[in-house]
Amino acid sequence: MRIKAKNRRRSPRKPGNIWSVLALGFVAAGGAPSLPALAEGAVDAARGKQLSYLVRQDCGSCHGMTLKGGLGRPLLPETLAGADARTLAAIILDGIPGTPMPPWRGQIDETEAMWIARALKEGTIE
Ligand code: HEC
Repeated sequence: MRIKAKNRRRSPRKPGNIWSVLALGFVAAGGAPSLPALAEGAVDAARGKQLSYLVRQDCGSCHGMTLKGGLGRPLLPETLAGADARTLAAIILDGIPGTPMPPWRGQIDETEAMWIARALKEGTIE
């Protein structure tokens, strides 16, 4: 699959604002993220390893194997510091419409999306 570079928005958004902008975008689109029943620590060690592998391989194809960015922006603790984990989980589950960022709902559930969001923020992806 080839992704057209022109679909990529390159507008210089201020880093501090992007998360609220994204969240507002979801609300405006009528798809406000609501992840009410997010269990903490409900991902066991074996599934955690699988999710880490998924992030490195599948997310890594766009965000870089070391998550330092590529087609998608870096997913490193310092770049995600200002982001709410729930907003990140919603992005992971539903993607960002109009961009190459795909939805992952169906492959991972909400608890797992929260696990990935936290692990990215904490830099604990194996
Ligand atoms: C086909 C390429 C592609 C894949 C695969 C992909 N992403 Fe993305 N992702 C993107 C792009 C491009 C953006 C930026 C979209 C935009 O212009 O706002 C993005 C944005 C994001 C964002 C919001 C932060 C940001 O950089 O704007 C998060 C969080 C994210 N991706 C996580 C993931 C995770 C976790 C996975 C794997 C489960 C994943 N992505 C897989 C392309 C991809």
